[in-house]
Amino acid sequence: MVLASGAGSTLRALLEAAAEESYGARVVGVVTDQADAGALDIAREAGIATAVVRLPDFADRHQWDQALARTIASFTPDLVLLAGFMRIVGRPCLERFGGRMINTHPALLPAYPGAHAVSDALAGGARVTGCTVMIVDAGVDTGPIVAQAAVEVRDDDNEHTLHERIKGVERELVATTLGRMAREGWTVSGRIVRIGPREDS
Ligand code: GAR
Repeated sequence: MVLASGAGSTLRALLEAAAEESYGARVVGVVTDQADAGALDIAREAGIATAVVRLPDFADRHQWDQALARTIASFTPDLVLLAGFMRIVGRPCLERFGGRMINTHPALLPAYPGAHAVSDALAGGARVTGCTVMIVDAGVDTGPIVAQAAVEVRDDDNEHTLHERIKGVERELVATTLGRMAREGWTVSGRIVRIGPREDS
């Protein structure tokens, strides 16, 4: 299933990839923290069940975290993809779905973590940036890296043009990586992630 806050272009790419029977996974639900997220329209058009869990609707962050975890659990997902989900998930989610929550981030981690990765890369003078698919841990964009792709920074880039170019590469990376994880499984040893069956199995 997919968690999103924004336009949902990553979700759309995943839905397109998952439409192929050979993909090996399907999107069972979409949860957003924003009532007007474009991702909700994309999910509804595709006939996917949706839920909205807004932070302001709860007394405090912990109650929101618990509601988010309960809502995700109601879809009984195998994998949870954060596709432009602009909130840090708390302990209730990590305790239930830790190790099978996957995030995508618009920079080559560990460079430029956080909510402003594209503008930070520009301001930092990076000549190459990109995107990272990682397993979510308790930190901010600190989890073990599953896959990365590089994108060149051009002299005339602004945040919008660079992010759009990153997103073009990122959508493909996310869809390919998630499909492989679903079909082949994966192992994590320290910081090293390998897609494929366990060697002892
Ligand atoms: C993607 O670039 C994703 O990496 C980023 O939001 C975009 C989602 O676009 N996520 C973050 O910055 C998380 N820190 P979308 O709404 O069109 O799928």
